[in-house]
Amino acid sequence: MTKSFYVTTPIYYVNGAPHIGHAYTSIAADVLARWKRLDGYDVFFLTGTDEHGQKVEKAALDAGVDPQTFTDQVAEQFQTLAVALGLSNDDFIRTTEERHKRACAALWTKLLDAGHIYLDHYEGWYAVRDEAFYAEDELTTNVHGIRVAPSGAPVEWVREPSYFFRLSAWQDKLLAHYEANPDFIGPNARRNEVLSFVKGGLIDLSVSRTSFTWGVPVPNDPAHVMYVWLDALTNYLTATGYPDADAPRARFWPADVHMVGKDIIRFHAVYWPAFLMAADIPLPKRVAANGWWTAEGEKMSKSVGNVVEPNALIGEFGLDAVRFFLLREMPFGNDGDFSRRALISRLNVELANDLGNLCQRSLSMIAKNCDGKLPPLPTPLTEADIALLSQAQALPALLGAAIEAQAFHVALEEAWKVIRAGNAYIDHQAPWALKKTDIVRMASVLRVLADVIRHVATVLQPFMPDSMGRMLDQLVVPADGRTLAGLATPLVDGTSLPAPQGIFPRFVEEVA
Ligand code: ME8
Ligand code: MG
Repeated sequence: MTKSFYVTTPIYYVNGAPHIGHAYTSIAADVLARWKRLDGYDVFFLTGTDEHGQKVEKAALDAGVDPQTFTDQVAEQFQTLAVALGLSNDDFIRTTEERHKRACAALWTKLLDAGHIYLDHYEGWYAVRDEAFYAEDELTTNVHGIRVAPSGAPVEWVREPSYFFRLSAWQDKLLAHYEANPDFIGPNARRNEVLSFVKGGLIDLSVSRTSFTWGVPVPNDPAHVMYVWLDALTNYLTATGYPDADAPRARFWPADVHMVGKDIIRFHAVYWPAFLMAADIPLPKRVAANGWWTAEGEKMSKSVGNVVEPNALIGEFGLDAVRFFLLREMPFGNDGDFSRRALISRLNVELANDLGNLCQRSLSMIAKNCDGKLPPLPTPLTEADIALLSQAQALPALLGAAIEAQAFHVALEEAWKVIRAGNAYIDHQAPWALKKTDIVRMASVLRVLADVIRHVATVLQPFMPDSMGRMLDQLVVPADGRTLAGLATPLVDGTSLPAPQGIFPRFVEEVA
């Protein structure tokens, strides 16, 4: 039976239009999903929108429309973006869907029946922007004299009847779980942050609200809606058909990786596993948190007006260049800066020069000097041939290890080592000179290069699906030859190749 793999993105709040930060986590998850498919896994890749809670309700109010109409509109923008980003998601979940309300109710009832939820009053601080409760000692006062959460979000004092989840009871079990599963939280800086938060002591968590109504109703107590994070986290179960144990997708639970931003690690690595343990449901295997993008050195914000809008970028530079840049520029887990200059530089140096030239030089020489037909591999291979070919053949294992650890920038660097080695090989072998002195050797060199390009393009498909697909078209690689396993089947000697076409043109900034 094929092994299954379940990867998720956060479900995004529909309080505003998507930006490059949302696109980033989604693209990272997409690369992982595509890689596992390439490696023969049966993959379930989920993304979606988080549509309840005070923050979304307030945004709808500000826009002057009712929450359902508002969320329908913004959710559509996220759905359109998923397509524009080339996401290969198998489902798109909206928390306002009936299937989700049903899953939330089932989980709630299970927790309540087992004695993990009790009714009381909440009195304390709440940040609507974060949809999070904060303790007094977590707060500071900002330059405007306003009480704020560590995230900078303003807090307000809340006092209302509330159901609580007995989070305090799970401290030791959570710590034991982190201890026994060192890969549960990645990268390490985030793991340490979570460990110290949990060691600092857990208090029971308010899991319902009564001061507004835009949420999933609490079963048998319609004055309450569920706390938006309990509702939101449950989406990962909903999509597998929960609570139906025999739903077709039930086999995907537990999830293999929840991809999230570092801002929401506490919800995914503390609250979520505690809810699941209490409900006797297996825990996801890993929560992987990415760092934060700034824009040209500044925090992206609507009020500053520096939000980087993915559709505009894709329109200008092309989807694959944007996907490549985002995963290449910022080591996953670190913070990074989005700058137009850096994007153009990587596009021109790494895509147009390094990768583009390797392909263009090799394929145009085959077109011109080998009658457009793939030459046979040399017998015997030279030492230089063997060195380069074995470097290319090592790519699947190297990229696999990096991608499994969410080290996407390392995966790309491994591929680029081979691309640069390929360009150095062309320079040394100088097939244009061999053309006059040893035409057979020239053909052999070009065939080695074709094999190298085939390996590079195959492993880069998850990052740049469209352009690498076109690259493989130019080598006439059949559909079933484009997987990792397919690499074992060699290209066919003498295959007629189509006229080569440049894949990555240089970007020239227009001067106004
Ligand atoms: O938190 N840099 O939704 P959200 C990098 N609904 N990543 C960024 C980013 C930036 N500047 N800005 C946003 C929520 N992100 C909840 C999640 S999950 C059950 C519920 C990414 O719309 C990053 O992944 O605020 C972050 O965690 C996510 O968008 C937050 O999206
Ligand atoms: Mg947010």
